[in-house]
Amino acid sequence: MTTQSPLLVTGGAGFIGSNFVLRHLRNAAAAPMVNLDALTYAGNPHNLDSLAGDARHTLVHGDILDRELVRSLLTTHRPRAIVHFAAESHVDRSILGPGAFLKTNIDGTFNLLECAREHYATLDGAERDAFRFLHVSTDEVYGTLQPDEPAFHEDTPFAPNSPYAASKAASDHLVRAWTHTYGLPTLITNCSNNYGPFQFPEKLIPLVLSNALNGKPLPVYGDGLQVRDWLFVEDHCSAIETVLAKGRLGETYNIGGNNQQTNISVVRTICTLLDELRPKATAYADQITYVTDRPGHDRRYAIDARKIQRELEWFPAQDFVNGLRLTVEWYLNNQPWVQNVTSGAYREWMDKNYSDRTATSDHKGVTA
Ligand code: NAD
Ligand code: TYD
Repeated sequence: MTTQSPLLVTGGAGFIGSNFVLRHLRNAAAAPMVNLDALTYAGNPHNLDSLAGDARHTLVHGDILDRELVRSLLTTHRPRAIVHFAAESHVDRSILGPGAFLKTNIDGTFNLLECAREHYATLDGAERDAFRFLHVSTDEVYGTLQPDEPAFHEDTPFAPNSPYAASKAASDHLVRAWTHTYGLPTLITNCSNNYGPFQFPEKLIPLVLSNALNGKPLPVYGDGLQVRDWLFVEDHCSAIETVLAKGRLGETYNIGGNNQQTNISVVRTICTLLDELRPKATAYADQITYVTDRPGHDRRYAIDARKIQRELEWFPAQDFVNGLRLTVEWYLNNQPWVQNVTSGAYREWMDKNYSDRTATSDHKGVTA
């Protein structure tokens, strides 16, 4: 049994958080982890099944808004850092119901910061020097880019366009203020779109995979020429570990894979991989259906990751072609996981988000 101070992770049963926890604990010498997660629709304790019986991992089912709970976790476990993933994270859900985003992403982060500030004030010596609050955020706080504009850098002004992005931008501002006003030792990371194992099938890549295998339409919003800068989730996790270990206090680090793709190109690549790995009589691309666009849809995201590369010597390990193949293989090999998360409430969500999106034919010929 190790005597190292643990990490307190929030949202570690979600997509990126569970990848982070699993990756961290793959190292036999790693510090233990206390994992605070409300287990919303997006949180799935089965993501962590491989840790069953591992005393280094403690899953606490609870809300980041619960001040007494967070206080008691800090007092009991005395973590050396808080790594804050917990959030409502899906843009389409934020459009149909923004309230939960303001609560968790803004009030929840505020609550954690206040608890962390109180706790930090009780620390001294090496424990105080080592303490960190790492806030995991998104490139969506920067708004949208025209095709010819330079990628987002750390000084790009915030211009969030969706309720999700606005709530994350607000939380980033709070974290910044808690450093400047109270001296809390924080770090912020703003990352581009992630993909990989354990992503909930409401986001583009797992949704397309799930629909493709079920013979359903593959819904492409608008003209499908929106651009995202995709990063394999393991690379995001390694970047967070690097920032936690070496990042300069009070700094923001942009994280990205230098991999800009149009949505239609991503969907077509998935179809090609499925044609090879799970062939059927007709091509999967025949299922592509252009549908009514998302309101306020950001056209392009792109990350300038030179700061983290230069200062902390972090680089992504996975290229998109390999990363997407690994992801498709993971979903094909983990169909019980997909079936488990796509029962009940998921069907209601699919109905709510897609039933009013009429199929459009005007972009059928577009390729990218
Ligand atoms: P996710 O939706 O898959 O997981 C969120 C997790 O937070 C879930 O386990 C959920 O149960 C938990 N949670 C939600 N509300 C909570 C609350 N009130 N208290 C405790 N736990 C709560 O999200 P994700 O895609 O893993 O994203 C994690 C973080 O990374 C988020 O902060 C998100 O903004 C950020 N991010 C995501 C991406 C991406 O592409 N997914 C990219 C950049 C940044
Ligand atoms: P998403 O995975 O929701 O991530 P984000 O909105 O945070 O970038 O969507 C990625 C892109 O894919 C985005 O431009 C919206 C688009 N999209 C579709 O075209 N169809 C869909 O069914 C979904 C969920 C997303």
